[in-house]
Amino acid sequence: MNTSAVEIRDLTKIFPVHLRRRHITAVKNVSITVEAGEVYGLLGPNGSGKSTTLKMLLGLVTPTHGSARIFGKDSSDYHSRTDVGFLPENPYFHKFLTAAELLAFHGKISGLGSKPLAKRIDELISLVGLEDARDRRVGGFSKGMLQRIGLAQALIHDPRLVVLDEPTAGVDPSGSHQIRDLILDLKKRGKTVLLTSHLLEQVQEICDRVGIMAHGEMIREGFLDDLVRIKNQTEFVVENATPELTSRIHEMIANSSAHLVATRQPERSLESVFLELTASNK
Ligand SMILES: Nc1ncnc2c1ncn2[C@@H]1O[C@H](COP(=O)(O)OP(=O)(O)OP(=O)(O)O)[C@@H](O)[C@H]1O
Ligand SMILES: [Mg+2]
Repeated sequence: MNTSAVEIRDLTKIFPVHLRRRHITAVKNVSITVEAGEVYGLLGPNGSGKSTTLKMLLGLVTPTHGSARIFGKDSSDYHSRTDVGFLPENPYFHKFLTAAELLAFHGKISGLGSKPLAKRIDELISLVGLEDARDRRVGGFSKGMLQRIGLAQALIHDPRLVVLDEPTAGVDPSGSHQIRDLILDLKKRGKTVLLTSHLLEQVQEICDRVGIMAHGEMIREGFLDDLVRIKNQTEFVVENATPELTSRIHEMIANSSAHLVATRQPERSLESVFLELTASNK
């Protein structure tokens, strides 16, 4: 039997709030399964419990009840984390290290030898587009640069599961495009990715399945195609249609039992316009 990459069962986290003896139920009976090789997006408004769920999966927060397993190993067992890379929501790094030194530090604690590590650092620095900042101290990095180095850090030991809490937060459009491609490349290489994001357009481009949380609960889960497809509608995009052709199509629809909902000219995304303009202006 194949072991799932992630198995979260009925996870609940109740945080005590010492003032006024209240409690906050951050996560309530959440179950998620992510199969090996899948890209899974955990979505939801601010405060809905996404980060807390990820932290419980990674053994950083103790669940009030429920359990989580990574490749079959319980999260309370530190061995479960050996094959996991994690980009936290607010990564904190030793400020006095340069980008390359920081990766060397994380590579060493992951057990990489000097030679493969040097090669891996070069690969990752260029993968996340930080060549120019390689020897700068991370203390002076911008938010987007910190995200990029955090991502490189998460990938240093080529883990089988990559957990990314808002990987594109604060990253400019071309950087988030790079990160999107990087995640798609991880998927191509058979890696499993579990991410949270508020950039729904990107989520739609990269995730196989998504779960939507609200107020600590999972309110909807499914394959992206099933969630977004309007099953009883069909869209044609026709290039260079003559007025005769469009009027014939209109006529055919009018003479059928189908109902024309809309005709429109497709638009490009603002992102693609931005990327085209900034690429030619470099
Ligand atoms: N250590 C903590 N102590 C008390 N409450 C906490 C703690 N960590 C999280 N919470 C609360 O749990 C709830 C869920 O927070 P969480 O960070 O998991 O949300 P999120 O979905 O990741 O939100 P965002 O989109 O803003 O990152 C929030 O109400 C938050 O204030
Ligand atoms: Mg969060």
